Amino acid sequence: MKYVLGIDLGTSGTKTVLFDQTGVAVASSTVEYPLYQPHNGWAEQEPRDWWNAAVSTIRTVLEKSGVNKEDVVSLGISGQMHGLVMLDEKGEVLRPSIIWCDQRTQEECDDIHRIVGKERLIEITANPALTGFTLSKVLWVRKHQPEIYAKCRHILLPKDYVRYMLTGDFATEVSDASGMQMLDVPNRCWSDELLEKLDIDKSMLAKVYESCEVTGHVSAEAAALTGLSDQTLVVGGAGDNAAAAVGTGVVEDGKAFTTIGTSGVVFAHTDSLAIDPKGRVHTFCCAVPGAWHVMGVTQAAGLSLKWFRDTFCDAEKQAAQQMDIDPYDLMNKEAALSPIGANKLLYAPYLMGERTPHLDADCRGMFFGLSAMHTRRDLLRAVMEGVTYSLRDCLGVLSEMGVAPETMLACGGGGKSPLWRQMLADVFQMPVATTVNTEGPALGVAILAGVGAGLYASVPEACRAMIHQNPAQTPIADNIPAYEKVYGVFTQLYAANREVFKALAKM
Ligand code: XUL
Repeated sequence: MKYVLGIDLGTSGTKTVLFDQTGVAVASSTVEYPLYQPHNGWAEQEPRDWWNAAVSTIRTVLEKSGVNKEDVVSLGISGQMHGLVMLDEKGEVLRPSIIWCDQRTQEECDDIHRIVGKERLIEITANPALTGFTLSKVLWVRKHQPEIYAKCRHILLPKDYVRYMLTGDFATEVSDASGMQMLDVPNRCWSDELLEKLDIDKSMLAKVYESCEVTGHVSAEAAALTGLSDQTLVVGGAGDNAAAAVGTGVVEDGKAFTTIGTSGVVFAHTDSLAIDPKGRVHTFCCAVPGAWHVMGVTQAAGLSLKWFRDTFCDAEKQAAQQMDIDPYDLMNKEAALSPIGANKLLYAPYLMGERTPHLDADCRGMFFGLSAMHTRRDLLRAVMEGVTYSLRDCLGVLSEMGVAPETMLACGGGGKSPLWRQMLADVFQMPVATTVNTEGPALGVAILAGVGAGLYASVPEACRAMIHQNPAQTPIADNIPAYEKVYGVFTQLYAANREVFKALAKM
């Protein structure tokens, strides 16, 4: 039996899973790390934390499984997208990584539109300039920390930094590179035109591969640290959403999934390039060679519930610890006791600004309609509903583009909650299913690793053989009009407060 390893470098932690060649998970390990928010709207992490987490989780799964290291033929890394890692000439990290949900770069986005032209930028990168993407972060460092920029020789994404530490290679792949906003997305290569116009030295960027191509192998030094063999191949891997698509089998036209991780995403595969002219959803290369995907993003999906848990749910945390269960299970039970609409309480999940559909770095979260009758269970329900309505906004934009999936797959931490899945089914008005294997992005990149090592013929073929669905939850007819009413009010919240958010940001 041969084995493949999937490393999922997320925002809350890194999860590494060892799979046998039939896709069965044989061992798994997770290590968490902090998110630093030095100012309102800023978000940073330490690349060292990612590397330490990768080393320790790889060691743990190898030890737990007892698998012979020579039988681990290949590995893939899935990464939180867009984060900026800057290295000097010796390969040392120059500053903490500015990650995907950081919102400090609106001025730089305006500069990019002025210099490149918004229409031309969308033609090349398939997306307008966004604060979340890597390019505006590069320009921010150049403007605000010129001494650091002067020393920068390599610009990498989070997972590509871990690849560098594992292999010594500066490499990336098309799905994650699409979110750097320097890639020519239709042609799947760096855009010389864009780099010249913005005066960015192309030699700082890594070599671009397709997601299932082999980019190198584990170095002797990393092999000693992790317990892997130095023969283990490393493939391109993928951005976390492209990886989740492979891990849920969303690799053909007509298929879609919703993930509720730290961010929330509604993702649809497309064999032909489709771009929203208003830029409200992203178009990126996907992990299947020659195909793309469109996706809408809710910045703070699971993050909203995590924020609520860490700020208000000490009681549930303590009770859960005593009962040896997950605090989210108790929070779900509480939320289920509040009715649809949470007794007329709304929550807008804009804790870290918002992408789809508002593209606004300045908006922030809110509870709307608080009354003295509300209890924590109403607040909890409102948070879960607010995230669901925001995901419905994403689905709405995809529908406008003619993307109309019949079934939705649910994944991510939030996708494990039957209550949240039922909300998705009722609000999206379509069946919502899960996959039997719940490892999502880790399985996705393990499949890519298997394709790269020649274990499987192609990504779609491997997915068809290995990924199976559970029966779907169908919409409950009586719930649909009730949610529709609340969603109708939710959709007015942002427009009614746009100017107030701007005033707050200037304070
Ligand atoms: C996608 C995005 C997030 C991150 C973190 O554009 O920013 O989904 O990848 O998960």
